Amino acid sequence: MVHLTKEEQKMLDGEYGEAPQQAMEILYALAKIYNAKNMIPISSAQIAGVSYATIGDAGLEYLKEYAKKGAKVRVPAFLNPAGMDLEQWKEMKVPEEFAKKQIEIMNAYINMGIRQTATCTPYLIGIRPKKGEHVAWSESSAVCFANSVLGARTNREGGPSALAAAICGITPNYGLHLDENRVCDIVFEVEAKIEKISDFGALGYYAGEVAKGKNPAFSGIKKATEDQLKSLGAAMAASGSVALYNIKDITPEYKISDAAEKITITEKELKETKEKLRSAEKVELMTFGCPHASIHEIKNIAEKIKEKKLKCELWICTARETKKKADEMGLTKIIEKAGGRIVADTCMVVSPLHEMGYRKTSTNSAKSAKYLRDLCRQKVFLGELEEMICE
Ligand code: F3S
Repeated sequence: MVHLTKEEQKMLDGEYGEAPQQAMEILYALAKIYNAKNMIPISSAQIAGVSYATIGDAGLEYLKEYAKKGAKVRVPAFLNPAGMDLEQWKEMKVPEEFAKKQIEIMNAYINMGIRQTATCTPYLIGIRPKKGEHVAWSESSAVCFANSVLGARTNREGGPSALAAAICGITPNYGLHLDENRVCDIVFEVEAKIEKISDFGALGYYAGEVAKGKNPAFSGIKKATEDQLKSLGAAMAASGSVALYNIKDITPEYKISDAAEKITITEKELKETKEKLRSAEKVELMTFGCPHASIHEIKNIAEKIKEKKLKCELWICTARETKKKADEMGLTKIIEKAGGRIVADTCMVVSPLHEMGYRKTSTNSAKSAKYLRDLCRQKVFLGELEEMICE
């Protein structure tokens, strides 16, 4: 039995209109399915289902209809990446028809009061819920980061449930909102040397595949930057739907079950994972920023390619706010001079890469290596900038 407050019951009964009622019906149904006893207030919602490449006409019609019914969000809400850079799409040769539909999607969300952040790393543009704070986020890598690195609490929402949570300002109280589900039941003892972003990605990819359905913990990782942790979590979310991990002495929580299984990870597993995700040696397009790049990552790439002339295209995907910072710091100019581009609002996976003519891409992210291969029909090279060979 789900206990609803008077306010929640009114929403469900349609006293606030059709749109909140529809949203409340989604949340109520989820609460019943997952045996939630009640709803809890959330401080923010992050909404996936933004790219026209992924939601198509059916998604667009659903959003337009919802906005027409007067749907408005009650808590700060922001968007996952769209299918194109909203400013550079023409130069990037995004098909006109695709762009038209993408803009309609953005307008429907804006009409509901949602910020057009278009990023999978809201935590890099100042949206950082505190430890213990309840949110409803839907992008899998952001969910993993919020739960694990920030210690906030969110389930892995779908686009419609995150939108419903934003409209009602609440979410069903189950899963990772509860203490008992935030305990790790498998521990990976890392013996391999992990230094680069692609190492953390490969580690996450392997651990995610093994952990499937369990919360993993890691020991043996001495230090890790936020950029490395976002790569680790994104890869685990992609290979094993992991939404929470702990690292000894690094993450704010480290709770291990007494019965936790222990598994050692050596160089061998990392090497094999990287090889498994590689299907190209030479590429036409190098991509970075999955999850969206931080300003440190952009600076690092700019320093490496300064005064060079790249032999193939380069995209660094990031949030528009981060791109603005890169513009101010002169990094965009350095990257463009070398023949690269900082791409905002979108990413290599949710943009129509194949339709834009690309077939062979590289990435330093295990998550995008998987999706570029599985969803975008690309041959992929997984590695670091220094290892990538242009065609
Ligand atoms: Fe973000 Fe796109 Fe990767 S949404 S996590 S950059 S696949």
